[in-house]
Amino acid sequence: MKKIVEIRNLRKTFCKGDICVANSLNLHLFEGEIFTVLGTSGSGKTTFLRMIAGLEKPDSGEISIDNRIVFSKNIDIEPNQREVAIVFQNYALLPHINVASNILFGSNATKKELEDILEKTKLKGHEDKYPHELSGGQQQRVALARAIINRPKILLLDEPLSNIDTELRNILRAELKEMIKSLNITALFITHDKEDAFFLSDRIAIMHGGDILQVGTSKEIYNNPADLYCAKFLGKVTKIDEKSYIRPENINICENAEREGVIKDIIFYGSFYEITVLSNNQNLLVHSFDDNLKIGQKIKLSFGNKILKF
Ligand SMILES: Nc1ncnc2c1ncn2[C@@H]1O[C@H](COP(=O)(O)OP(=O)(O)OP(=O)(O)O)[C@@H](O)[C@H]1O
Ligand SMILES: [Mg+2]
Repeated sequence: MKKIVEIRNLRKTFCKGDICVANSLNLHLFEGEIFTVLGTSGSGKTTFLRMIAGLEKPDSGEISIDNRIVFSKNIDIEPNQREVAIVFQNYALLPHINVASNILFGSNATKKELEDILEKTKLKGHEDKYPHELSGGQQQRVALARAIINRPKILLLDEPLSNIDTELRNILRAELKEMIKSLNITALFITHDKEDAFFLSDRIAIMHGGDILQVGTSKEIYNNPADLYCAKFLGKVTKIDEKSYIRPENINICENAEREGVIKDIIFYGSFYEITVLSNNQNLLVHSFDDNLKIGQKIKLSFGNKILKF
């Protein structure tokens, strides 16, 4: 697979080196993939995206886009020459101009190209409307259309789905994924939301304190987290001995198991129960679908084979 973006030893500090937001980052994006940088607030995601776009100057390192170095010791290509486009969190549509003008803003695309993009983003018939006359999904598509009309090599998305209520967010992210995939765009998506990352991404990088801790598919990083931070960031774990941890869904309640325990608490989460079981002086979290479990009940447990070792 062709690498469309390559990041080598990228470093960035703020405030005279006090805050390290990029600690020698190395990453690559394959053509056509949705790659997500997932991290908590302040982990350095936006700064990373801005460095790729040319809006923030790295201290050192190298950035290549489609085999062209856009940043290195002696090179710093202007943002508008990097062939990247950004979709911001609030879409940043201009309220006083219509859809067509928003899409064409700052672009020298032809009428034919506009027609083409309206078609591809399912905005045909809406071109004369103003942003306030559009639904959330349509606004997102205008932002997307504006970003991709100049055929960028990479689309950068900075938390476009945050601050939106759950129901609409689920619709928007499904549309976003379908649109990006059907147009075969390479996208770098950044978010603090694990579920959005799992839903959208071909691969995910976990960022923390300016470091990339792990890169992999959602399944790889969930099942084989690089360290305890990644394990806990992606889901719950219980410590079972000095170096071993287990996720709640990998503990089974079964009658012929060896290990005994008593149910201390049961929380109903809709599609499953989360049960706290006291066993060998340890509180274990266990996920179950059994409607008949009761607090105080004695049960037997077996551990599945997905034990995490750190
Ligand atoms: N221009 C700046 N000057 C000084 N410090 C900055 C600057 N920009 C960002 N920072 C600091 O760098 C760190 C990373 O910020 P960044 O915006 O990249 O985080 P983020 O992961 O995008 O967070 P969020 O999820 O809240 O958007 C933070 O501690 C932030 O305060
Ligand atoms: Mg940010």
